[in-house]
Amino acid sequence: MLVVEGALNARNQVGIQDFVLLDETSEAAFLSNLKKRFCKDLIYTYIGTLLVSVNPYKELDIYNKEQMDVYMGVNFYELPPHIYALADNAYHGMLADFSNHFILISGESGAGKTEASKKILQYYAVSCPSTALLNTVRDKMLMSNPVLEAFGNAKTLKNDNSSRFGKYMDIQFDSQGDALGGHILNYLLEKSRVVHQNHGERNFHIFYQLLDGGEEDLLQQLGLERDRQHYSYLTQGECAVVPSVDDKKDWKTVKNALQVIDIDAIHTNHLFGIVASVLHLGNVRFEPDSKGHASLNNQNNPNAELHWVSHLLGVDANSLQEGLTYRKIEAKTEQVLSPFLLDHAIYGRDALAKAIYGHTFTWLVNRINASTENTVSSFFCQTGQTLCDIVFFFFPFQDPSKKTVIGLLDIYGFEVFNINSFEQFCINYCNEKLQQLFIQLTLKAEQEEYEAEDIEWEPVHFFNNKIICDLVEERHRGIISILDEECLRPGEATDLTFLERLEEQMGTHPHFVSHKLADKKTRRTLERGDFRLLHYAGEVTYCVVGFLDKNNDLLYKNIKDLMCQSKNAIVRQCFSCMDPDSRRRPETVATQFKSSLLKLTEILVAKDAWYIRCLKSNESKKPGQFDEALIRHQIKYLGLMQHLRVRRAGFAYRRKYEVFLQRYKALCPATWPHWRGEPADGVLVLVRHLGYFPNEYKMGSWINHRTKIFIRHPRTLYATEDAFEKCKHQLATRLQAKYKGYRAKGVFRKQKEAATKIETCWRGVQARKERDKRAWAVKVIKRFIKGYMTRGQAKVTDNSEYLVFVRQNYLNRLQDNLPKTLLDKTTWLSPPHVLAETSELLRKLHYRLMVRKYVRGITTQKKTQLQMKLIASAMFKGKKESYPQSVAQPFVDTRISDEDINARVLQMLRNEHIKYAVPMMKYDRNGFKRRPRQLIFTQAAAYMVEEARIKQRILYTALKGISVSNLTDSIVVLHITCEDPKEKGDLVLQCNHLFELVTKLCIIANKQNVVRVLQGSIKVEIQAGKESAVEFSTGPEPMVYKAKNGHLTVVATRARPR
Ligand SMILES: Nc1ncnc2c1ncn2[C@@H]1O[C@H](COP(=O)(O)OP(=O)(O)OP(=O)(O)O)[C@@H](O)[C@H]1O
Ligand SMILES: [Mg+2]
Repeated sequence: MLVVEGALNARNQVGIQDFVLLDETSEAAFLSNLKKRFCKDLIYTYIGTLLVSVNPYKELDIYNKEQMDVYMGVNFYELPPHIYALADNAYHGMLADFSNHFILISGESGAGKTEASKKILQYYAVSCPSTALLNTVRDKMLMSNPVLEAFGNAKTLKNDNSSRFGKYMDIQFDSQGDALGGHILNYLLEKSRVVHQNHGERNFHIFYQLLDGGEEDLLQQLGLERDRQHYSYLTQGECAVVPSVDDKKDWKTVKNALQVIDIDAIHTNHLFGIVASVLHLGNVRFEPDSKGHASLNNQNNPNAELHWVSHLLGVDANSLQEGLTYRKIEAKTEQVLSPFLLDHAIYGRDALAKAIYGHTFTWLVNRINASTENTVSSFFCQTGQTLCDIVFFFFPFQDPSKKTVIGLLDIYGFEVFNINSFEQFCINYCNEKLQQLFIQLTLKAEQEEYEAEDIEWEPVHFFNNKIICDLVEERHRGIISILDEECLRPGEATDLTFLERLEEQMGTHPHFVSHKLADKKTRRTLERGDFRLLHYAGEVTYCVVGFLDKNNDLLYKNIKDLMCQSKNAIVRQCFSCMDPDSRRRPETVATQFKSSLLKLTEILVAKDAWYIRCLKSNESKKPGQFDEALIRHQIKYLGLMQHLRVRRAGFAYRRKYEVFLQRYKALCPATWPHWRGEPADGVLVLVRHLGYFPNEYKMGSWINHRTKIFIRHPRTLYATEDAFEKCKHQLATRLQAKYKGYRAKGVFRKQKEAATKIETCWRGVQARKERDKRAWAVKVIKRFIKGYMTRGQAKVTDNSEYLVFVRQNYLNRLQDNLPKTLLDKTTWLSPPHVLAETSELLRKLHYRLMVRKYVRGITTQKKTQLQMKLIASAMFKGKKESYPQSVAQPFVDTRISDEDINARVLQMLRNEHIKYAVPMMKYDRNGFKRRPRQLIFTQAAAYMVEEARIKQRILYTALKGISVSNLTDSIVVLHITCEDPKEKGDLVLQCNHLFELVTKLCIIANKQNVVRVLQGSIKVEIQAGKESAVEFSTGPEPMVYKAKNGHLTVVATRARPR
């Protein structure tokens, strides 16, 4: 998307990408657009599907893999113009229609044809699908270039790497688009260059490469010196060094390439032997003897050079010398040797050099073809053995239904030098033919298209160069025919007689001028031996000198025979396939060339054509220079303006309905996103929606199979394109959103699937765990139940575990539920059967332990207290109702401190230690009146004290009993032995601390056994012999009073149950 946008922006910024869209079709507008783009290094521009390329003379970073990827499979107008776009569209056109195509690359010498053809080849090599096997074929095809360029290219005044031969290469593809192989047809190598170069030009590159790059050993083996000045075939142009050419580096490339194209070491040696032999041959010099006959020049050790030639070509030296200085004339029965004049000897030598080199070049092409050939699908044979020109007859593939080809035609460009010879004549004639083909095909195609679609068409007038082609090639009347006639006719035919014949024949031809025929003004520009042709590309003045010889291209028979015996495999192979015995004159060079071009035309016409028109930006081969005059001239003779006008004549633009609809369908709601009906109907809906006026466009006929919409004005398409540009942004956003949604959905779906999978696995794991757990649990429970069922039995396997469990469980539970206090006798866990005994032992142990702990924690006071409480318990527990309430109340040491006892009393008792004192009530013996008293116990006696007086002293010995009731009252009766009636009898006391008092008294007096708890009443001996009683009963209110019977009545409340 971005790239397309970039392309369309580029359109606005740097000229127009397609000349068809220029508003104005003037030459100035054309040139200005070309210049604008050239200045920004945009060397490619379209005229419809024709590509115009301007040589930048600098490396541009537009031929890399990324670029190839960008252009792969993309429609022509989607991206900025590029040679890759053309190559790709030809390729896809071929695949889609299963048709053969060719790409015609034309332009003058140095315009960039060969570079263009290499770029296309690289594009196919890199971009087409491939297998390892096919890769080697591709390498071979790619590597054939450096070899052919080394042997067939040379530096000329026009181009440092000028192709001096024509090349048509077929690249063969299978139905999948895999490149299977290649096949080359070569055309007319400019052999004269081997023996002669114009000033400022060089011989073929290979000579310089060998001398510069060849290893010392090799040069020695070939008898060569590194100094190129040493060789006369290399010094004529006085241009040995060319800055833009690195012969040493190229040598390495060529050597490597020879290996790649399967030329083994022996043949490689022979090949270089031939190259070296040509150099040596050039140095073989002749001098006239006294009769003017040529003999080898004896200076400078002439035999050495001859020796090297014979050695390298593997022929006998004497025979070679004879062949170079004598001509063998065959009379009826015998052969006569006739010595050469000097000129003939030189001619013979040069002819041999040219023949060897020319044949070797052809041999090389054959070898390349053999190695790149797709063996199953094609074969070819060699024809025409005299010269090095067209030698192949090209047969299409054995199985044409399965293979298609793309042909690449890279032929030497139109060239004009100061002196133009036979070679330029052939080269320029070839260019005329190709121009003719171009005119025919483009016009024909255009016309056919309009016809097919039933569209009205206004013919465009253009210069048809057929007239020039006819001038050159017409039978019996053309220049070639006249030349051949001159070559073949008996008598003294010379170059000048040829010119005279031409003047006779061509006298009035508008495209032919000679010195004799020219008007005064023109005559000044012509030499006597010149003739001028007004080619489509400009005027060229040819010098007739050498035309006849070059056209004859004769090699003396004895030399030919000698070469057939050569030990050099290549030379032998090349010469022996000629027919030395044939008496028939071989066809002349020009005629061979003519028929080879005819065949080429036939090959091309049967294919779909693509055109690349190369323009030379300047003569000085400098980057950044845009020579307007030079380019204007090329635009003119290449017929670019005419082509443009033809393209625009009727309708500037045409698109297949499908393509048009596909591109612009977004501009109409009815066609977006899909048009379900016929594309033509969709286009109609679309253009109506876009508001095209009826005269702005035409639809292909309804009756014929209409395929295209024709748009008259570029501006209409422009407006549509601009609308599309705007719409594209919205579309892009929508597409982006859709795509993002789609991606997100994909991701989400994947995540969901993954989550489900993980969940499933996890659940599986969990379920298996659960299952195992349950199985385990079942086993355990079973064992448990079995154990439970047999728990009563002696320990057996079935119950042993259970019993252990029971034991452990019981002990654990017991541990948590042990009684906390000694008094707690109920919480002991009841044991299972097996642990009954243990439990009992444990229980005892535990209580013992608690006792022990308790005992250890008891103080002396507490102990005394408890001992006292124990005594009290023994006396009252279960006997007196109020006893339980008293248990919790501790006994104190005394209830009356010394300070509260009267000092006199203390004084009186000072000898007796007071053990205990307590306040209490005493009931009088007479009338039972209540009197508050203090009761003090000493070691010996108890004292009843009232204030400061001791009212009664009771010896313990006299204390015979202590009685209390069983009720809740606090009455104590102390029974005292009383024998004398004067003595006081029993004491009736009431004390709130009854139990403490009684216990203390018992302990101090040691009278535990005299305490009695009585029910109902207690007898009281008031004095000796006089008795009364205290009667006890229960009632709601506690009371003590004297009853009518004189007894003391005590009413006690019932004790509250605990
Ligand atoms: N696309 C290109 N990018 C960079 N340089 C180029 C490009 N095309 C051509 N050239 C330069 O121009 C020179 C001449 O190009 P090329 O050899 O392709 O011309 P040609 O048309 O084949 O000429 P001839 O008819 O003499 O063989 C190249 O050696 C190269 O330096
Ligand atoms: Mg070239």
